[in-house]
Amino acid sequence: MSKPLSTEQAAILYGTRFLTDDAPDGPFPADGMSALDAMRMVDEELVLEGDPWRNLATFVTTWMEPEAQRIIAENLHRNFIDHAEYPISAEIEQRCIRMLADLYHAPGETTGARTQGSSEAIMLGALSLKWKWKERREAESKPTDKPNLVFGGDVHVVWEKFCRYFDVEPRIVRLQDGKYVIGPEDVEPHVDENTIGVAAVLGTTFTGHADDIVGINKLLVDLKGDRGLDVPLHIDAASGGFVWPFLYPDSEWDFRLEQVRSINVSGHKFGLVYPGIGWLVFREKSDLAEDLVFYENYLGKTDATFTLNFSTGASMVLAQYYNFIRLGHAGYELIMKTMQSNSRALAARLEENGNFKLIGADREQLPLVAFQLAGEKDYDEFDVSWQLSAERGWMVPAYTMPPDAQDVKVMRALVKETLSRAQVDRLADDIDTACEMLEKKGGAHPAERKKMKRSPGY
Ligand SMILES: Cc1ncc(COP(=O)(O)O)c(C=O)c1O
Repeated sequence: MSKPLSTEQAAILYGTRFLTDDAPDGPFPADGMSALDAMRMVDEELVLEGDPWRNLATFVTTWMEPEAQRIIAENLHRNFIDHAEYPISAEIEQRCIRMLADLYHAPGETTGARTQGSSEAIMLGALSLKWKWKERREAESKPTDKPNLVFGGDVHVVWEKFCRYFDVEPRIVRLQDGKYVIGPEDVEPHVDENTIGVAAVLGTTFTGHADDIVGINKLLVDLKGDRGLDVPLHIDAASGGFVWPFLYPDSEWDFRLEQVRSINVSGHKFGLVYPGIGWLVFREKSDLAEDLVFYENYLGKTDATFTLNFSTGASMVLAQYYNFIRLGHAGYELIMKTMQSNSRALAARLEENGNFKLIGADREQLPLVAFQLAGEKDYDEFDVSWQLSAERGWMVPAYTMPPDAQDVKVMRALVKETLSRAQVDRLADDIDTACEMLEKKGGAHPAERKKMKRSPGY
């Protein structure tokens, strides 16, 4: 009989020592472990998370081609901000900005920035609105202490964040039951000489629709003519910026409209790149407030930077460029149409089932299904979401709308590239089964309800 091994000896010989040890989660670990053990431990920890393939809550890309994955993996060690050392990566960023400016009908030469996502792009775009407003006011010797920004309750939380972080009064148009986007009539009462800009959404987080951007633009053009107020319009196209150009090319929302001065878009949403990439594009170079650009001599080269962050990986910029040249206009159009067709198939199944009604499926919308229960039931949308995740791990969020529509409950399923027609059918069957089960149970148990998540993008 051999002598029993100590834990350390066994770990050296067989690895996987974490099977009997707790995961390090407090003090900085005194000793390390083998690379294989560390990798397995991290992998094992993640197993109990939600599966990105069944995550219909997120707008963010959950699948890329192996060739794109290879580019990403091969360039993780390339710091994007080191322009002197990696000038080609910097040039590729500029190419992407030029391509987006073209897609969004910029009238001439323009400028923009790669960002971590739409949130950073919005912070930078809104900062530029604030600075440009300040310049205009100072030129007229008028006070600059009360800037405000007008937007609807249908925006992403980042807009309120901007206002709080950068000391701007948010003027928020409240939503109503049945009205989940805003138009010129909502905006007009809030605009005055202290308005740094109006933000409108193309593809809201809540129902995937667009604000009445044409109407808001017309209002602002009229205000310029009638009252001499030149109020710029920023379009939050975080999701819609890669959908509308391909599904609704004749719908005007971009630089074709006179007051649209800047646009943000998330490369990691319908730009089809993994998380960590967003874009900000200005109509003209002069729309970027010069004061916000820092010129620094770093590592032997003068560099102009306009970002909130500094170091970041080059991989996602390169992956975005890969997608642009790999797919082109025709490829993006095909993918968007495929997603739209599958989301319509899911919508049709939900209507057929009789338990649900759709929200605005007859209007221009992101490839998603926004729906709610039809009629009185013993269960609600949160229960359906819970039951679906309990039965098959589908992540289809339920949430309440922003004020004043806070009593309205909605469910939303993003239909991305990974949701083929076969998966759509399976999901629709599972939703039917979940409803049947809830019918029998009379709703979720109170203990289950306590665990439910209640935001649009968990
Ligand atoms: C309309 C809208 N704006 C901004 C954001 C924030 O985008 P990001 O996650 O790219 O920072 C989102 C995210 O869902 C969004 O839907």
